Amino acid sequence: MIPLRRPLGQMLPRAGSIRHPAALKSPFDQLCRLSSTSAPDLSLSDKKWSQPPSTATVTDSDVANLSNQHQHSLSLADLVKHGRPPLAAQSLFSSANFTLSLLPIRLAHRIQALRNLPFIVVSNPNISKIYNNYLHSLSTLLPWKHRTISNVEGEIQFTSVLAELVHTHQDTIPILAKGFLECRRYISPTEVTRFLDEHLRARIGTRLIAEQHIALHYSSAVHFDPAASPTPCPEHPSFIGVIDTALCPADVVDSCANWVAEICEYKYGIRPRWIVDGEPDTAFAYVPMHLEYILTELLKNAFRATIEGRNSKEPVVITIAPEPPDAGPPKVKLDPPAENKGAFRSEAIKPLDDNAPGVTIRIRDRGGGISPEVLPNVWSYSFTTFSEEDSPAGANPGDALSVISNANSGGSSIAGLGYGLPLSRAYAEYFGGGIAVQSLHGWGTDVYLRLKGVGKIQ
Ligand SMILES: Nc1ncnc2c1ncn2[C@@H]1O[C@H](COP(=O)(O)OP(=O)(O)OP(=O)(O)O)[C@@H](O)[C@H]1O
Ligand SMILES: [Mg+2]
Repeated sequence: MIPLRRPLGQMLPRAGSIRHPAALKSPFDQLCRLSSTSAPDLSLSDKKWSQPPSTATVTDSDVANLSNQHQHSLSLADLVKHGRPPLAAQSLFSSANFTLSLLPIRLAHRIQALRNLPFIVVSNPNISKIYNNYLHSLSTLLPWKHRTISNVEGEIQFTSVLAELVHTHQDTIPILAKGFLECRRYISPTEVTRFLDEHLRARIGTRLIAEQHIALHYSSAVHFDPAASPTPCPEHPSFIGVIDTALCPADVVDSCANWVAEICEYKYGIRPRWIVDGEPDTAFAYVPMHLEYILTELLKNAFRATIEGRNSKEPVVITIAPEPPDAGPPKVKLDPPAENKGAFRSEAIKPLDDNAPGVTIRIRDRGGGISPEVLPNVWSYSFTTFSEEDSPAGANPGDALSVISNANSGGSSIAGLGYGLPLSRAYAEYFGGGIAVQSLHGWGTDVYLRLKGVGKIQ
């Protein structure tokens, strides 16, 4: 049996030449490597929101005060503003203080959004676990809120809090997916999609902010530790934290396609072929973890359709088309952004200036396309046509639960959760890109992934 191991919703550890920042070292490994010093004592409070039960020491007024504060809009440029690694101590402290200024507010907004769900939903053990994880993480940050990090010891302690935060929220997606499946009698698919769209987009930013500081920490002059660093420093000086300023999408495509082909071989006994054309030498500045997530999901869909459409001799063709720096609006018409982002708008990381050069990647399969009945649903969380018997029969919650438990036990699946497209779109839109699907029913599907780069970095 081929050992296929990929935690759902996480980046993909796998072999190949890809320079992958987060897969190399888990945040938990980083946590263990950090100094054993712990965060300062938490100030206990007498007033807690009582339901669902929680042991975290966060008061109602903490949550109310923080969630009433405006979330700072952040750009990718903000994440690189502390300079190129290795950062000197003062720049590292600035990064830590900047991170600290953002995270408690973001966590409080998430807690408030979870509280706004129907009570019977947030009482579900899985949803309530996520709620408590947020409370816990906020409780570990609150003691820092009025501090300024200005010495090495404090910065180490703070980074260990961040590493724990990232670790705590690692399995959020399968847990939430399970919770919402269990609650499907009490909340409509539209409401679930609205909540998840906002929640998972906000989570992308929160993780990124925390992981960026962790990566800057290990590549800094003060703590330089290539063995512990989540980014391949110093061999690849193109990294600034978790951003690769010279990311080559063609390398990422090959690495992800190899991984997905392995899953196909295991599940169907067939390894689909793929071709990369266009301008494979293109490089741009982006977050490799995000690109890996998106490409893996799009390739899973394309490979599955190719095999199930009995057309597995036809290769999937991936075309890489860089945009000229002054290209202006995208030539490819993208689906309009998800309409229900609501509060998300204020907390979004801003797209970069329109002249930041981007890349469009087209993934073309000959797997038969998407039928008109299925097409309107593909952006809903939990919508899937996958079933273990390979009979396209619409969403089947039983199968989705087995996909989740498979994922929790470390397995990998080609499809079945119905999160691939909506979550990939959330990642792409986060930095001003997008995903559009063009189906030629009876023939195949083209998926256009447009990504904006970070722009010029001095
Ligand atoms: N390239 C494609 N060809 C044919 N159908 C597709 C293609 N891409 C997506 N679909 C349809 O859209 C549905 C939703 O896709 P999505 O990736 O969101 O979920 P999934 O693949 O079913 O599960 P997973 O969460 O594992 O990705 C799929 O079940 C499939 O019916
Ligand atoms: Mg999918």
